Amino acid sequence: MSDEMTEDRPLGVAVIGAGMAGAAHAAAWRAATTVRTPLPRPVRLVAVADIAEPLARHVAGRFGYERVETDWRALLDAADVDVVSVVVANRLHREIVEALLAAGKHVLCEKPLADTREDAEAMVAAAETAGPVARLGYTYRRAPGLAALRELVTSGALGEIVHLHGRYLADYACDPQAPMAWRFRGEPGSGALGDVGSHLLDAAEFLAGPMRAVSGARFRTVVAERPLPLTATVGHGKVAVSEETEPVTNDDWAGFTADFDGAAGTFEASRVAAGHPNGLRLEISCRAGAAVWDQENPAEIQVHTQEIGGAAAASNGFRTVKLGPEHPYIGEGYAMAAPGIGVGQNDGFIFQARAFLEEVVGLDEEQSWPRCASFAEGLRTLDLIEAVVASAGDEGRAVSVAR
Ligand SMILES: NC(=O)c1ccc[n+]([C@@H]2O[C@H](COP(=O)([O-])OP(=O)(O)OC[C@H]3O[C@@H](n4cnc5c(N)ncnc54)[C@H](O)[C@@H]3O)[C@@H](O)[C@H]2O)c1
Repeated sequence: MSDEMTEDRPLGVAVIGAGMAGAAHAAAWRAATTVRTPLPRPVRLVAVADIAEPLARHVAGRFGYERVETDWRALLDAADVDVVSVVVANRLHREIVEALLAAGKHVLCEKPLADTREDAEAMVAAAETAGPVARLGYTYRRAPGLAALRELVTSGALGEIVHLHGRYLADYACDPQAPMAWRFRGEPGSGALGDVGSHLLDAAEFLAGPMRAVSGARFRTVVAERPLPLTATVGHGKVAVSEETEPVTNDDWAGFTADFDGAAGTFEASRVAAGHPNGLRLEISCRAGAAVWDQENPAEIQVHTQEIGGAAAASNGFRTVKLGPEHPYIGEGYAMAAPGIGVGQNDGFIFQARAFLEEVVGLDEEQSWPRCASFAEGLRTLDLIEAVVASAGDEGRAVSVAR
């Protein structure tokens, strides 16, 4: 049994960044002790840190955190803080994460691990030398439907994957008056591809294993400049804007193809896809059938099992499976665990926080929910993004990706 498990003192939690995803983390730590079995150690909601104090106060008050900080460095020496979520702009992750790990805090960092491969590599090195737990928030791995699709693949029920189609279509940047924000600054590949596409890349490899090469990559920046905001912005929120504009330097849309071992894949990530507020969807076509998961219905999958010839062939087709308690996360994740209960994206943050706490308190992997993604897996996404950027910069040339 680990020291963490035997200690009586509650595990103190803090969240850095009280924006769109920061609020989801703040809510998740609160609910993480209400899923599965009782956690062997109580959790105390200690602090929310954000440079925007009113926002920090709002989130801390709403989710029951004891105090707010306007400088995240105040958490480094805080003896009552053990676990910290880092939920700020990607380019800030490295400095904050490195300092937290050096101070002995367990860190759950939001995706993508960093804005650049260089930063991500340094963060992997910091995590390897540090004692505390360092993990990354690929929340969709916790979506019951995506986890179920992975089980279909690993069980071999549908046979080998022949091809995979994945897209993450979002519409938050359709409006040219949507204000300039951190998401629109950075190198090509750090836009739609790094933001929503990082989830897509991770989900694709979660299902189909490592990509060997990418090719045919293209980027488009559709809205070339954006007005500066007159007040602080949160997430994709609209605020009053100035006449002054700033150029958008990264991708609004990215498309590419990929080769896996055997399987082929086509992918698209967009933040200018009208009508798609949050459209992550993956379809696997396999030798003995096919399956689809769409984030809009996280606890539902479409499954088709191929019947060739005979009476059954006349009624071939996709059927909808509403996941129930025998499926990942539903049985243990909900107080009322039945097929057809509502499941949403916020639940993934709760399940992720729970898995993280289980690792911190020293629960064995066999008893725990699957561990959160490692920093090395976050670096892997940056490798894939780098390959897509290289392909796009060279007329779509095929670019190998080392494993
Ligand atoms: N897993 C998911 O589904 C998901 C969804 C959205 C965002 N994210 C990730 O979460 C992170 C944050 O994204 P967001 O949409 O919440 O951003 P956001 O812009 O809504 O919020 C960022 C917050 O950070 C604060 N901030 C800026 N500098 C700071 C500093 N030095 N110290 C403390 N706070 C500071 C800002 O005031 C703001 O409130 C990003 O890495 C993003 O990719 C993940």
